[in-house]
Amino acid sequence: MLNEINIDPALIPQHIAIIMDGNGRWAKQHGKERSYGHQVGAQTARKIIEESARIGIKHLTLYTFSTENWNRPAEEISALMNLLLDSIEEDVFLRNNVSFRVIGDMSKMPADVQERLQSCINNVAHCTGMCLVLALSYSSRWEIAEAAKQIALDVQVGKITANEVDSVAFSSYLSTNFMPDPDLLIRTGGEVRLSNYLLWQCAYSELYFCDTYWPEFDEKELHRAIYGYQRRERRFGKTSEQI
Ligand code: IPE
Ligand code: IPE
Ligand code: MG
Repeated sequence: MLNEINIDPALIPQHIAIIMDGNGRWAKQHGKERSYGHQVGAQTARKIIEESARIGIKHLTLYTFSTENWNRPAEEISALMNLLLDSIEEDVFLRNNVSFRVIGDMSKMPADVQERLQSCINNVAHCTGMCLVLALSYSSRWEIAEAAKQIALDVQVGKITANEVDSVAFSSYLSTNFMPDPDLLIRTGGEVRLSNYLLWQCAYSELYFCDTYWPEFDEKELHRAIYGYQRRERRFGKTSEQI
């Protein structure tokens, strides 16, 4: 099935970021509760994690819960937190040699979720394949404001001077400082917006939007996105002739 789309193994993006959107609309379309859409969405996430690891992606960053998602009904938030507890599967990570990190305001997460995340991070820290990053209670503006605050504090105590604050130094203050910027950003679910996700980091990412609701996104669609990416010319401000 996957062979229909021949992606070039030599040009696999290092870092893919995904906005997993459309769970609620998919559930509604099937006459189900939104929480059912999230459950099926979690299964999609597992499939995409396994396939991404298999084809050699180095970092996969999944937008799992945004700062703005705290404004959803309490019962949906609680269903999502419980689902998160159920979906963190060390055995899947270990089997696929996947290490695990989180970005976002962990202090806002329930204590049991924080503990579960931390123990999983520790238990798979030795894995050397793909690094899976979940963005949880995350938004770019929160992250950028936090970085600005930390830089101000570091300037105050003389760790860095104001003149030394350039884009490289600034990036090192972001929660994503351990990985390269996304090469490819995928958003499912039909909306064409970034919803406060990795705004700084996606300055030069290739963007791929598809109408497929996240529960129906699959390996083939991932390959299609990568195939499209491999046909783009990334110029970074230069002319075609310079590339
Ligand atoms: C994405 O699906 C999952 C989260 C934001 C947690 P949605 O829940 O946003 O689904 P739609 O957009 O309402 O269909
Ligand atoms: C973005 O989806 C957040 C996640 C996928 C976790 P939303 O469904 O919350 O985005 P908006 O609010 O419709 O833009
Ligand atoms: Mg949505």
